[in-house]
Parts: sequence; C-alpha cells; structure tokens
Amino acid sequence: MYTDKVMDHFRKPRNVGEVENADGVGEVGNPTCGDMMKITIKVEGGRIADIKFKTLGCGAAIATSSITTELAMGKTLDEALAITRDQVAKELGGLPANKMHCSNLAADGLHKAIEDYRSKKKGT
Ligand code: FES
Repeated sequence: MYTDKVMDHFRKPRNVGEVENADGVGEVGNPTCGDMMKITIKVEGGRIADIKFKTLGCGAAIATSSITTELAMGKTLDEALAITRDQVAKELGGLPANKMHCSNLAADGLHKAIEDYRSKKKGT
C-alpha cells in the first residue's frame, strides 16, 4: 500500500507545469511501463532557482516527481545530481516493491535537465 506521504503528493502534487524560459529540460520515458515525464529547471547562481514537472504516469510517478522537485529546489547542481531514486522513494516513506521502478522517472528526469543545462552552457 501507499504511505500517507505518497498519497499527499499524488493528490496535491507540488510544482506542476513548466518553468518559463527554462535553462534545462529533461525528458524521460520509463521502459518498464511507457510512462513519461518532463522536468524543466531555472538555474541562478549555480543553484536550482525554480523547477517544475509534467508527468504522464501512474500515481507513484506523480508523487515521486513532486517530491523530487521539492528535494531539488534551492540545491546546487551537484547536490541535485546526487539525488538518487532510492532517496526519492525513502523520502516518501517507501514505495510498494512493484512500484519502485516508478521512482526512476523523476531522478532520471532531474539529472537529464541538469546535463542539458550544462551542455547548453558549454556551447555558449
Ligand atoms: Fe509507469 Fe509507475 S507504472 S511510472
């Protein structure tokens, strides 16, 4: 079963949508189920100044996306890159074993958005 925290983030997801003029975009698909998510970030002074997500997926995917944006907000890029799938699941008080794969989307999307930002910056 889902924890109260998972249900809370599923019912009232934080930071839904897209950051305007995003500095980095991460889009990932879950090969296990075909669900998708997109994370957009704004970077200021080497920190994540804003972050939003859009997830086309199950309740666990929405809850993990929501908590990931909360974890990453205000963090330096290296700190945000260090956020792992396991940490995301732990932060929610755990996920049912058959839903652990759902936590992949959020952490991977966040990492991709940071890589996207860094690759764009390199090219300027
Ligand atoms: Fe697809 Fe959860 S079943 S992300």
